[in-house]
Amino acid sequence: MAVKYAKWLKALLIDGLEISCGTSMGATFNMCRGGIPVDEMVQSFAPSRQAKIKTYFESMLGKFELTGPYNDETAKLIRPVMGAVPLFSVGGWRDLRQMEEAVSKGDTDFISMCRPFIR
Ligand SMILES: Cc1cc2nc3c(=O)[nH]c(=O)nc-3n(C[C@H](O)[C@H](O)[C@H](O)COP(=O)(O)O)c2cc1C
Repeated sequence: MAVKYAKWLKALLIDGLEISCGTSMGATFNMCRGGIPVDEMVQSFAPSRQAKIKTYFESMLGKFELTGPYNDETAKLIRPVMGAVPLFSVGGWRDLRQMEEAVSKGDTDFISMCRPFIR
C-alpha cells in the first residue's frame, strides 16, 4: 500500500520522501517506539488539556520496544519506485555503522533522527 502511495507522490514531483509510520493518535504509538518525552510533549498543549493528554501518552508507553531501526524494511521496498527522488528513513537509528551501511547499500539516501537530537 505504501509503495502505491509513494508512486503517486513521485508523480506529483515531490522533492523527497521520509519513511515514518503510524500516528500519535489511536491505541498504539508505534511512530515513536521506546521512550517518549511525555512531560515535554504535554507542555505543547493548552494547560486545561495537559492532565488528560499526559494520561493518554502514558497509556501508550511500553507498547513497542525500541530495538533498532524499524522503518528500514519499508524504506527498502519504497526505494526502487522513487527513482531520483531522495528517500529518508526515520525511526530508531542509533548506530552509526548501521546508518552508513544502509546508505552505502542504497536502501535509503538519508537517515533522519528525532529523539537523539532532542537529547
Ligand atoms: C517530541 C516529538 C514530536 C514529534 N512530532 C512529530 C510530528 O509532528 N510529525 C511527525 O510526522 N512525526 C513526529 N514525531 C516522530 C518523529 O519524526 C520520528 O518519526 C520518531 O521520533 C522516530 O524517530 P527517532 O527514533 O529518531 O526518534 C515526533 C517525535 C517526537 C519525539
